[in-house]
Amino acid sequence: MPASDALIAAARAARERAVADFSGFKVGAALETTDGHIITGCNIENASYGLTVCAERVAIFKAISDGHRAFRRMVVVADTPAPTPPCGACRQIMWEFCGDIEVVMANLQMVTAMLQMTDLLPLPFDKRLL
Ligand code: THU
Repeated sequence: MPASDALIAAARAARERAVADFSGFKVGAALETTDGHIITGCNIENASYGLTVCAERVAIFKAISDGHRAFRRMVVVADTPAPTPPCGACRQIMWEFCGDIEVVMANLQMVTAMLQMTDLLPLPFDKRLL
């Protein structure tokens, strides 16, 4: 099932709430649970720079803290013609908490890329190796 318009719209709306005063690069994310809930996130920067949290991780941590543990898909939105793929730190967290979900990258007009987590993070480190 392709990403719904509602999921993409939620990621675009979350992007509007980004706190990106330092980079000016606003990102929104929307995470869909297996039972159809949508949880959003935006990137949040601060003056330390290094304590910035990406939109994807904000969405995942919000979802988990609200009791959601099973996910189907994430939409990531930035205002760029090229896809904005999740950073390495986010890929690790996405893999560990969401598994092989579909990751849809979009901008303000259209979907720019769709990939599975296993394509974004081949040969992952996770608890199976501990
Ligand atoms: N950022 C995200 O929130 N998600 C991504 O997928 C890529 C980058 C944020 C981090 C930082 O606030 C800004 O975009 C520029 O790197």
